[in-house]
Amino acid sequence: MTQIAPKHLLVTGASSGIGAALVHEALAQGWMVSGCARRSERLHQLHDSLGSHRERFLPLRADVSDAASLDAAVAQAVAQYGPLSAVVANAGRGVDGEITQLTAEDLATVYDVNVCGVHRTLHACLPHLGSGARFVAVSSVAAFLPIPRMGAYCATKAALQSWVAAARMELQHRDIRVMACCPGTVSTEFFASAPKSGAVWDWRPGTPLQPQQVARCILGQIRKGRPRTTLIPWFAGIAACSYRHLPRLTEWVLRRALTRMRQRD
Ligand SMILES: NC(=O)c1ccc[n+]([C@@H]2O[C@H](COP(=O)([O-])OP(=O)(O)OC[C@H]3O[C@@H](n4cnc5c(N)ncnc54)[C@H](OP(=O)(O)O)[C@@H]3O)[C@@H](O)[C@H]2O)c1
Repeated sequence: MTQIAPKHLLVTGASSGIGAALVHEALAQGWMVSGCARRSERLHQLHDSLGSHRERFLPLRADVSDAASLDAAVAQAVAQYGPLSAVVANAGRGVDGEITQLTAEDLATVYDVNVCGVHRTLHACLPHLGSGARFVAVSSVAAFLPIPRMGAYCATKAALQSWVAAARMELQHRDIRVMACCPGTVSTEFFASAPKSGAVWDWRPGTPLQPQQVARCILGQIRKGRPRTTLIPWFAGIAACSYRHLPRLTEWVLRRALTRMRQRD
């Protein structure tokens, strides 16, 4: 596999968490970075914090639920730094609550960002992705491990995995490498900003990852260009495998945790 030299990287969801960490790490590795999100004030704060790197960072207001805003942001990014060598579709949101408490609209809203948002990002960027370009979707270990009280979110990430696999096969003839990064729990604003519907799943074994660790993992994926799914940390793969190979045991463990949470409610 050919390694890629840092050129122009576009990141969605750059205003906080993994996206903001990716901006920092990518700039430190010599990339020019276009960062999209809805909260322009957070993007400008990020810009101001970048010191001498700031001239290689372009903050762009864009909502992944809105194709026109994405198209406009990508056009601005390409006008500033040229064609895209890599795109990280990182924007995402959560939704908490038991399936019986969530409405179809709750599910549709989170699907629109986590799956359709990645789809819109690819469509906006595709005209500017040449041979050897990378497209990374930030998915989750939750794609492989259905978690009670996070079922709707898990469903969106599981759907995203299928989308990634299909896009990977379809874009191979253009040598566009489509991959997914699937982190376990990461210490970000994600859980604070997840819209609440019912009580929250709060059983998260192990120490959360730092967003910088995930950012470095994504940059490693981009550099190597292996079109595959990467789980981080490594033991997240065990959790994913446990559900695939021992579904009854895994569901028993998750059910016990759910019972304990219900007793605390
Ligand atoms: N934290 C975890 O434990 C964890 C674990 C596995 C996977 N992930 C995934 O990692 C990704 C990043 O999450 P994070 O943990 O870094 O959480 P975060 O700090 O809440 O970041 C989410 C980012 O997505 C952006 N975003 C949300 N809706 C958007 C929209 N409609 N249009 C454009 N941008 C939007 C937010 O920006 P604005 O609000 O400014 O638009 C923000 O920059 C998500 O896809 C999430 O599912 C997180």
